[in-house]
Amino acid sequence: MQIVIVGAGYVGLTTAVLLAHIGHHVTGVDIDRRKLELLRRGKSPIHEPGVEAMLARLGDRLSFTEDLKASVGEADVIMIAVGTPEKADGEADTRSVEAAARTIAEGMVSGRAYTVVVKSTVPIGTNRRVAHVIRRTLEARGTEATVWVASNPEFLREGMALYDSFYPDRIIVGVDDPEAAEVLRRMYRPLLERTFEPPDVVPRREEGGLPPFITTDPVSAELIKYAANAFLALKISFINEIAGLAEKVGADVIEVARGIGLDSRIGPRYLAAGLGWGGSCFPKDTAALLAVGREHRYEMPIVEAARRVNELQRERVVEKLQSALKGVRGRTVAVLGLAFKPNTDDVRESPSLAVLRRLVALGAHVRAHDPIAVPHAERALTEAERAEVTFVSDPYAAADGADALLLATEWAEYRRLDLPRLRGLMRTPVFLDGRNVYAPEAVRAAGLLYLGVGR
Ligand code: UDX
Repeated sequence: MQIVIVGAGYVGLTTAVLLAHIGHHVTGVDIDRRKLELLRRGKSPIHEPGVEAMLARLGDRLSFTEDLKASVGEADVIMIAVGTPEKADGEADTRSVEAAARTIAEGMVSGRAYTVVVKSTVPIGTNRRVAHVIRRTLEARGTEATVWVASNPEFLREGMALYDSFYPDRIIVGVDDPEAAEVLRRMYRPLLERTFEPPDVVPRREEGGLPPFITTDPVSAELIKYAANAFLALKISFINEIAGLAEKVGADVIEVARGIGLDSRIGPRYLAAGLGWGGSCFPKDTAALLAVGREHRYEMPIVEAARRVNELQRERVVEKLQSALKGVRGRTVAVLGLAFKPNTDDVRESPSLAVLRRLVALGAHVRAHDPIAVPHAERALTEAERAEVTFVSDPYAAADGADALLLATEWAEYRRLDLPRLRGLMRTPVFLDGRNVYAPEAVRAAGLLYLGVGR
């Protein structure tokens, strides 16, 4: 099939690589010239394992352009994967989605059938609005094309984007016209029947069967995406709330999480207590879900609580440091990890960065390290904040002369720290394991004062 993908961000680019690999001809479209130039040189504009290696291999099955209108004519499927940033009221901003829909319609030619797929995470009702925008544009131009619109939400995680795309748990397709579902079933067939080998840059999935292809109405598909992210966010907030109680009663949240996670109705994943969730999806999508609720005068106390617990989680970590150091003013805190999670340079809504900022606001000096996210972190800080942060090139340099160390993002390299060496470098030996990476005994054995989350 000929496929056009609008937007070369995480979702667009990964989907482009997937679909080209399983045999389609894919054109990626983006308005960002810098991105296009990188892509044309085979460089990935996002830090995502495997993507760059794949760009080099796909040859003419994957190309990039900024001219959306011109690329639509011969396409069978056009996917919209542009950003939907959060507006001040929490609602998702769909202007880029609608603009893309208009341009797509302008590129359509009479006598052809097109399936337009919304992959961006969009508020309830957007798919039908996209269909409306396209029909109106076609009418105004006198183009007689057949157009089906489908919602096909994406569940990929940053840092695991290719793996999640090649081994999806399910494919959700929301349509008003059954024809659109059939086109997408055909498009995904190699994935659904696994009639191809995933590329070697993607880690193998041993267990698990073939992904089910679920068709539903567009509104339900839109809600599935929001509900899935909100559920995962509240699962994490729940274990974080239990972690706080575990500290009060002297329990170990890791044992509690294991004990409840073995119940197959609960499941073990997304039960790691820590600094809480961040990133481009959970914060934005829970806010958007609440905005939808407000619009319909419908209260959503569980989602609200999940967000509140997530805020509290950051405050608690700051309080722990305050109380261990008897105030952080004038103290030096080493912060290990700035990205919102490992294997990405993304600092959007990063809990680590939020805590760092709070520490600076309270008068602390911070020595910060991250394997790759420092440039993004520097840009996210104000000039005044940057003046109080020293970015260093390894974790030991961060610990040098520090009064406390906060392990904020569980990068692999922080799992093998030389604890006695850290102890030797620090002025006072407070070690706050914000991601519960270390056994408390191992930290204490190195002469450090251990603080964790829920242990
Ligand atoms: C998430 C969803 O997982 C994905 O399906 C959706 O498409 C986009 O949003 P992502 O934001 O990339 O993906 O990250 P994810 O790996 O899910 O982690 C989200 C946040 O939760 C991170 O800040 C992570 O540190 C935190 N987290 C995750 C926990 O604190 N504990 C856990 O047990 C799991």
